[in-house]
Amino acid sequence: MISSVQTVAVNILVTAGPTREPIDPVRYIGNRSSGKMGYEIAAAFAREGNTVLLVSGPTSLDVPDGVDFLPVETADEMYGAVASHIGRMQVAVFAAAVADYKPSMAAKEKIKKSANTLALELVRTPDILGSCRSRHGFSGTLVGFAAETENLIANAREKLTRKQCDLIIANDVSMPGIGFESDQNEVSLVYPDRIDQLPLASKHDLAHQLVRAILMLHAEKNAVND
Ligand code: C5P
Repeated sequence: MISSVQTVAVNILVTAGPTREPIDPVRYIGNRSSGKMGYEIAAAFAREGNTVLLVSGPTSLDVPDGVDFLPVETADEMYGAVASHIGRMQVAVFAAAVADYKPSMAAKEKIKKSANTLALELVRTPDILGSCRSRHGFSGTLVGFAAETENLIANAREKLTRKQCDLIIANDVSMPGIGFESDQNEVSLVYPDRIDQLPLASKHDLAHQLVRAILMLHAEKNAVND
């Protein structure tokens, strides 16, 4: 039984916020992520004395105290930032809402309106979380999010296995008042062997609980590996 969660500072990477995929110099494909959950998690890790790098897409939030900050815009930039830094991390938490598709080419000049329809060809962006184990050989504690509108737990379990995570934080974004753009959230923690359901809480309080759970998981994993 592990009673104290941690004794030394842990190197932690957190991704947060949306990505923006340019269509032309003035337009982009984005999403409704505010970045609040990821920023609260980064802040809570820092308050517990850890070394935190926050890689974030564009948000209106202040950078939390005591956190190193690396701003990015696109999924490709976020992938590059994670690839550069994941090697020295012991824990990585992927809270960013990364665009799954980007325009195959961003127009150099502003697209003028002419025809009644305009077709955009979209191509897949890199799966940043999914590349950590397979491409970067990351062996630390790996945590992802699953924001779903249906089949929450089944989808979270599928992500846990496919992206080789230790934990997926599952979030039903179809429920009014929680998740995207809200100050509150209600999540389930999906581990390989169990599920813990946390009650509705402010993102601030929830971040504290999530950080305790992640550091506990990290300590357990290291105890097994020692
Ligand atoms: O597959 P899906 O996008 O639902 O997976 C969600 C999890 O994967 C989140 O933790 C998200 O930050 C991460 N992700 C990523 N790169 C992508 C897509 C998702 O890191 N291109």
